[in-house]
Amino acid sequence: MLVFAKIKSVQQKIESLKKGTTVGFVPTMGALHKGHLSLIERAKKENDIVVVSVFVNPTQFDKQEDLINYPKTIEKDLSLLKSVFCDLVFAPSAKEIYADNITSQSFNFDGLEFQMEGKFRVGHFDGVGTIVKRLFEIVKPTKAYFGEKDFQQLQIIRNMVKNHKIPIKIVGCEIFREADGLAMSSRNARLTEAHREAAPFIYKTLKQAKVKFGTESALDVVNWVENEFEKHPLFKLEYFEIADEETLLTIKNKNPKQKYRAFIAVFAGKIRLIDNISL
Ligand code: PAJ
Repeated sequence: MLVFAKIKSVQQKIESLKKGTTVGFVPTMGALHKGHLSLIERAKKENDIVVVSVFVNPTQFDKQEDLINYPKTIEKDLSLLKSVFCDLVFAPSAKEIYADNITSQSFNFDGLEFQMEGKFRVGHFDGVGTIVKRLFEIVKPTKAYFGEKDFQQLQIIRNMVKNHKIPIKIVGCEIFREADGLAMSSRNARLTEAHREAAPFIYKTLKQAKVKFGTESALDVVNWVENEFEKHPLFKLEYFEIADEETLLTIKNKNPKQKYRAFIAVFAGKIRLIDNISL
């Protein structure tokens, strides 16, 4: 496994590959867990070589405190990446990527950016678009892999690739969960013992909402979920939404031809957790 910190050197390495070599790319912010590894394993199966980036992107954090507290575990990350036979790692510094100008470009994601996460994390998706576009220009992969854990991010990247005519196939990968149902996340490690123990409640509620959605109106399901969280002593619901998978617009009337997904963001103390389920 080769590890690069400089744009020039990783580019030279990728450009030196035999013509026709397929490159699978998995962008990450490190603090790797089995969810990330599931993306890398999928990329391994579908490509000749796999490139993983590890970069905690400052422009996508709306709160400075969150950026400072983001877990940085590069040594452990590298040994995990080795264990899944990752070929190339790109782990640049913020200076290498942004020089002295840590700002994002503004994007038009056709309204996807104004829903859910976009309402609560202002500027977040401009930051994600800026870094992912830059990484795509550097790595020029055949396919890039994103988790459905961040479903809105996945749809935004698909939109960016389409609107900017970027010739990369975007592959969405299923959410990888702990045995008790909690979606794997780098933030789970920061949960208190009590919050961690109670956290399967989030996915359990999503699964119950899915069943209810079969027979009840979207409004009734939303009210039910909000009520479940009001009663819960440990979690504070930020949002629960049922939205169209493509447009991410909140459901108005159930249309059997459309695909819906339920999305949730919850505060467990200071830690913000997100999850979603296909309905
Ligand atoms: P990060 O949170 O490190 O996630 C990297 C990738 O792993 C994302 O595509 C995310 O959706 C996926 N992922 C995380 N947890 C997962 C799980 N439990 N199951 C399946 N996939 C999971 O998302 C980012 O970083 C950044 O925004 C990034 C795209 C790297 C841009 O900075």
